Amino acid sequence: MMDFADKVVVVSGGMGGIGLEICELFGAAGARVVAVDRRKDRDGSVEGGFRQRGLDVRFRAVDVTSALQVSTLGQHIRTQYGRADVLINNAGILSFSPLLAADANEWDRVQKVNCKSAFLMIRAIAPLMQGTGAIVNVSSSAAQKPTANTAAYSIAKAGLLTLTQIAALELGPGIRVNAICPGPLDTDMPHNYLRGHPMKDQIMRDMIDRTVVKRLGHPKEIAKAIAFLAGDAASYVTGAVLSADGGFMN
Ligand SMILES: NC(=O)c1ccc[n+]([C@@H]2O[C@H](COP(=O)([O-])OP(=O)(O)OC[C@H]3O[C@@H](n4cnc5c(N)ncnc54)[C@H](O)[C@@H]3O)[C@@H](O)[C@H]2O)c1
Repeated sequence: MMDFADKVVVVSGGMGGIGLEICELFGAAGARVVAVDRRKDRDGSVEGGFRQRGLDVRFRAVDVTSALQVSTLGQHIRTQYGRADVLINNAGILSFSPLLAADANEWDRVQKVNCKSAFLMIRAIAPLMQGTGAIVNVSSSAAQKPTANTAAYSIAKAGLLTLTQIAALELGPGIRVNAICPGPLDTDMPHNYLRGHPMKDQIMRDMIDRTVVKRLGHPKEIAKAIAFLAGDAASYVTGAVLSADGGFMN
């Protein structure tokens, strides 16, 4: 089920909690992984760690909200690899703010990173799939089960679900396009955004309480679900949304 031998897999947000697990899993399944992130692998130690384990994972510094940088990435992949087989739009940023206090510039930034970037990446990478491939967009349980104070993020992630359906219609039948909605995970993302928040512990406890499984998810569990959507096991799945949220409830 997890055979991606020689497949060219492009992952955005590859330096993050879920992104690194995606690189690990696809690399171990034989893929040639191109991981892009706005964070740089400054001393090459992340890429070097993959290489030492025999995995072909290469990092490139790309801001996926920049049409120019994403288009240059597409040209690079065409030149270096000749094609792409899988695209995982995983880059994202979180944002918490009550509607009435939300900053308009921050709102735009959240839309760009969580939603517009997927459009830019699909536009640059799908033509390299030569009619056959798979795209997985990493949305969030917030798209379908939003909570207060998350309007910018939840709306961007809901937009990503609509983009998923439209891309499935326009790129099918050869290219399948699906979305995954992770629930609360044990990655840096929630911890970083809630750092210093007076209610941090309470908010984390509430999130766990709202899952059926009563725990945070591990990014490995999301990588495995993404691999399912990207692989042959999901050959009849397109335009779909897979919840991987431990049964997160409103
Ligand atoms: N962690 C969670 O609880 C959770 C829950 C649901 C959905 N998600 C989604 O999963 C995805 C990955 O989240 P994570 O937990 O690994 O977060 P993370 O913060 O650990 O990783 C996100 C990565 O995206 C990169 N990124 C941000 N903006 C970028 C840009 N403009 N260009 C290129 N790269 C950029 C960051 O540098 C970072 O490495 C995100 O889309 C997030 O919204 C996370």
